[in-house]
Amino acid sequence: MSKPLPAATLKPNQSKKTSVTDTSGILLGDKVYWNPAKLRNGHAAILGTSGSGKTQTLKAIAHELPSLFPDIKIVVADFHGDLKLPNEVCYALNAESPYGLNPLVIDLDPKGGGPDLQAIAVSSILRKSLKMGENQQGLTLNAFISCYENRGIFQKDQSTWKNVPPNFADLEAELQSRLEGGCKNSEKLLVKLAATLKYGIFSKTQPSINFPLVRFDLSALSKVPGLSAIAAETLLKQLLDSHKLMGEIDGRVPRCYVILDEVKEVKSSNTLERITSEARKFGLGVIVASQMDSDISNTVLANSSTKMVLGVDQVEVTKVARRFRFAVNLIANLQPLEALIRMDNDGFHTKIKPFYQRV
Ligand SMILES: Nc1ncnc2c1ncn2[C@@H]1O[C@H](COP(=O)(O)OP(=O)(O)OP(=O)(O)O)[C@@H](O)[C@H]1O
Ligand SMILES: [Mg+2]
Repeated sequence: MSKPLPAATLKPNQSKKTSVTDTSGILLGDKVYWNPAKLRNGHAAILGTSGSGKTQTLKAIAHELPSLFPDIKIVVADFHGDLKLPNEVCYALNAESPYGLNPLVIDLDPKGGGPDLQAIAVSSILRKSLKMGENQQGLTLNAFISCYENRGIFQKDQSTWKNVPPNFADLEAELQSRLEGGCKNSEKLLVKLAATLKYGIFSKTQPSINFPLVRFDLSALSKVPGLSAIAAETLLKQLLDSHKLMGEIDGRVPRCYVILDEVKEVKSSNTLERITSEARKFGLGVIVASQMDSDISNTVLANSSTKMVLGVDQVEVTKVARRFRFAVNLIANLQPLEALIRMDNDGFHTKIKPFYQRV
């Protein structure tokens, strides 16, 4: 049997070395400051029901991060299309947009990268997001490897990894040619992938994310099941891969934050879990928000130094109290924009200063 958890400590706005007396952080609200560089890691998990203040909190943090870390890059995966921020570069991904994301962009890490591993990772993402069976996943994997080979990219020859990678248009052509060669399974797979391929967002030019603040508006993708999950997973994987390639940071100042408002889209994402467990030393931080406690995995929660509870539905209170280690009555009485925040071991109770009061 597991031991009971230690009693939760809540010190509402008391003098605390990491935040209240130390104003070298982002003011969250009521004298509570957040400085991820002073915590064990910079990741944050935010939980709150509809209208509790997740979006306003995320926007406030994204807006203030550059004043704390002037060179920070912020990438926002915006599932609802309501995270618009000043000075952003926004790419709206939809059927008409000239922009897309390419899941087949190769991780150039000589030890853990290359086309074969990318093909394995993407076929696994597709299986989860599009609920494929094992055979279809195998066929997809095989087709991806052919797509890379058709572009002269081979696992064994690292000098080929920098060639222009294939995208999902190559996958469609490959499956079509297999179908013409009599492969019945390719036909079934094309049917399975029809909506994904028709939308075309994985077959278009991937825009530069080399700007201080980039938002991908993924709201139009919610019409086709699985699409926004594949897009978000693609972004997360590219960010993790590129930060690992850059190597470890010297100090504790993060290079980049990725912000996800509705983490249920990537609930079972292995990449999100890897970011929370591995990416700190490479300077990549993640802030996730969710309406439902069950959408934040144990790994993500345990690896996020900052945990924030906004108002939650009454049916969730007991569960959330146990998981986030705050008293039931405190959680049950939270008003919109009122938060219980844990930063490493210290707890705070505050009223968030929303984004709309900061601009
Ligand atoms: N511009 C504004 N002016 C005044 N109040 C606002 C403004 N924008 C949001 N609010 C209020 O702030 C509170 C928090 O809203 P927010 O959008 O952050 O909730 P949320 O947790 O993201 O909800 P959802 O899960 O539905 O997206 C709500 O009470 C909302 O009505
Ligand atoms: Mg919201």
